[in-house]
Amino acid sequence: MAPDSVTDSLPRHIAIIMDGNGRWARARLLPRYVGHREGVKSVRRVVEDCIDRHIEVLTLFAFSSENWRRPSEEVGLIMDLFVQTLKKEVASLNRNGVRVRFIGDRDAFSEKLRYLIAEAEHETRDNSRLQLVIAANYGGQWDISQAVRTIATRVQAGELSPQDISPDIIAAEVALSELPPPDLFIRTGGERRISNFMLWQLAYTELYFTDVLWPAFNAKELDAALLWYANRQRRFGRTGEQVEQQKGA
Ligand code: IPE
Ligand code: IPE
Ligand code: MG
Repeated sequence: MAPDSVTDSLPRHIAIIMDGNGRWARARLLPRYVGHREGVKSVRRVVEDCIDRHIEVLTLFAFSSENWRRPSEEVGLIMDLFVQTLKKEVASLNRNGVRVRFIGDRDAFSEKLRYLIAEAEHETRDNSRLQLVIAANYGGQWDISQAVRTIATRVQAGELSPQDISPDIIAAEVALSELPPPDLFIRTGGERRISNFMLWQLAYTELYFTDVLWPAFNAKELDAALLWYANRQRRFGRTGEQVEQQKGA
């Protein structure tokens, strides 16, 4: 394939569903929690690898709005892991120029966790080397409904008429409206589904699925996804010929 017909570039924004921690641990006859702990090591690695590769935004799905349905013991251990990880990692993320932010409904978290999240966001707010977005208690349907609620309030206040509601208006209210949408989506762990991740923002994202379990994800796996991405032709509704022509122009 001619270089012009491929994306020919790196994704600006990578979004990852980090799946397979439980199975990774079970395969080793270990409790699921150990898989989550190992998963944090993969997070550390992928952040560094994205910095090295000049990726602008990395969004990681850490806990879905549906994950509360898990046994309360597992949920509790995951929450403890969030607290420990924030306490341990934010200083080095800050040193490495990483800006950290969270998306999702944080009201359900403990006061301590909410404090650590706010602190991490505040301390790193001026960094721009990599934007690290953690989706925690996040759901795509929740995201769209909170956007709709904001828009409805504006309509009620007379600032906006129902006829004005367009994809642009909604896009401005969903999470991460100020950042480029994900170019590349990666899901580890073998499932081919979106599991209520960024439903609005993924409209034109290239979707990459790998059977590798999240704790085993490494630079080699990331590079395989990047290579796959580089060979996609992003058409956004146009024909392949139009895209070729535009690139050649
Ligand atoms: C992803 O790994 C982590 C979270 C959802 C918190 P899983 O815990 O879903 O691992 P599997 O899918 O059971 O292997
Ligand atoms: C998606 O993984 C959520 C996260 C990785 C945080 P799940 O393991 O919860 O997804 P399902 O339930 O198998 O679809
Ligand atoms: Mg899973």
